[in-house]
Amino acid sequence: MSQKDMVKIFDTTLRDGEQSPGASMTIEEKLRIADVLEAMRVDVIEAGFAIASDGDFECVRKIADRIKDSTICSLARAALGDIDRAGEALKGANSGRIHTFIATSPLHMKYKLNMSPEEVLEAIHASVSHARNLIDDVEWSAEDATRTDLDFLHRCVDTAIKAGATTINLPDTVGYSTPDEYRHMFESVFQNVANADKAIFSTHCHNDLGLAVANSLAGLDGGARQIECTINGIGERAGNAAMEEIVMALRTRGDALPYETNIQSQEIMRASRLVSTVTGFTVQNNKAIVGANAFAHESGIHQDGVLKHAETYEIMTPESVGVTESKLTMGKHSGRHAFADKLEDLGYELGDNAFQECFKRFKALGDRKKNIYDEDIVAIVDDQVSTS
Ligand code: KIV
Ligand code: ZN
Repeated sequence: MSQKDMVKIFDTTLRDGEQSPGASMTIEEKLRIADVLEAMRVDVIEAGFAIASDGDFECVRKIADRIKDSTICSLARAALGDIDRAGEALKGANSGRIHTFIATSPLHMKYKLNMSPEEVLEAIHASVSHARNLIDDVEWSAEDATRTDLDFLHRCVDTAIKAGATTINLPDTVGYSTPDEYRHMFESVFQNVANADKAIFSTHCHNDLGLAVANSLAGLDGGARQIECTINGIGERAGNAAMEEIVMALRTRGDALPYETNIQSQEIMRASRLVSTVTGFTVQNNKAIVGANAFAHESGIHQDGVLKHAETYEIMTPESVGVTESKLTMGKHSGRHAFADKLEDLGYELGDNAFQECFKRFKALGDRKKNIYDEDIVAIVDDQVSTS
């Protein structure tokens, strides 16, 4: 088997994720999430946008002081004051990164920035050089890269690398691109920017058309070696690429996607639940990897297949993403009492008839399936409630 290329995972749950309307988090909550991200071996944690508020500054500072195994990053616009504030917040970091960005598409330059392309090039040079005077690790992003004229994008990337950027991020800011287009954008930059091999290229995809994960993976085929993503895919509007989907796609389909990450995938469920609890954003039942039904098998044919050989209907094991818990202890030998306890744990309060019916189905499932997971019980109860 050929050698797999390493891909860095850059988590932006605490920055772009927090930009989801209604997802703001306290410093304590962000520290808890940062601990889990470090335990997952995330390469880079974007802890916030230091200039945005005193709270954001404190948050980046505290995470930088506490987390030692991941690089800690702060976002900054192409403004010297933003960059200084980011540098200040990152002072205690073992490994810190300033991430500075400016929009490069005609639409953004004209209507949002009111700047000419030449002025944007000057701002890139000034912001990246200033950041490099403060820190060795500087990421530069071309906001709205996927709607940017390619010739101009080449000039922007060339300017950023010459000014000292070590990572170049080409975001699909509005989730507009398709996998072929996104891959082609990276290929075009590698073909046309002489010093492109001096930086690591990064994907950053939004999910407006439901293509964020597919586009991120296509970016790898175009030469990117860092993916920016969030837990549960939270983020602006329809969200960002979901980390759990990217990591498990690479792990499960290494034959088609020859890339590896450092992520400890068995921590995925813990991270998903923590982010969901802290933000109050519930994860839809059929969400890939972390949804309650992701490993539940309700139909008899599927249950039968899984009993005979798990791989008939499971392309990855529940344990590989951290779905273990007491689910493994629920089985055909569990009695009414254990079942009632489990329902209570899962937050269900059933009347007598519904309880008896669910218990009957649970026992029947126990005869066919060795391990009964929470997701199986959730599926039984949901089905019973919807059909009664
Ligand atoms: O979506 C985007 O373009 C961003 C940049 C700030 C990196 O979040
Ligand atoms: Zn974004």
